[in-house]
Amino acid sequence: MEEELRVKKIRNGTVIDHIEKGKALIVLKILGVDHRSLRTTVTVAMNVPSETMGSKDIVKIEGRELAEDEVNKIALISSEATINIIRDYKVIEKRKVVLPNTIEVVLKCPNPDCITNDPEPIKTKFFIENIAPVSLRCNYCERVFEGIEEYISSA
Ligand code: CTP
Ligand code: ZN
Repeated sequence: MEEELRVKKIRNGTVIDHIEKGKALIVLKILGVDHRSLRTTVTVAMNVPSETMGSKDIVKIEGRELAEDEVNKIALISSEATINIIRDYKVIEKRKVVLPNTIEVVLKCPNPDCITNDPEPIKTKFFIENIAPVSLRCNYCERVFEGIEEYISSA
């Protein structure tokens, strides 16, 4: 109830709920939502009180039903996030994000000598090496790394 006073319900679109506190802006980056791509209203709530999480962030993207492969990348930084698809004010689908086996494009390889960082870069691709904490292995240079947030380059 308290939350509803802060952020209005939306008619149609996607609500990303139960995002770890402080990570909403990284979620937007992963989804490639920025001032150049905005077509509809996007609401960001940070540090909202939550019964289960203490506090959490929420992102509401109106007018867009995000596809599974788009939102699953959010599991890289917030494994408990839930995706709610809203139609005509109702939650018609609710699911948790699922970490994909491979991650493409959205991250930069931390190895400066990796071919994905060449002046004419090729698209990055990483495999999940460990789940908690998340670590990834580069498909090209085999570098294994954690601290994913630092390497997000946006979708
Ligand atoms: N929501 C919204 N607009 C709607 C319906 C729901 O913005 N028309 C938001 C709610 O504010 C909430 C999320 O979508 O952040 C999930 O809604 P709902 O399932 O109704 O809430 P809860 O039951 O609290 O969800 P959960 O069980 O996942 O915690
Ligand atoms: Zn690499």
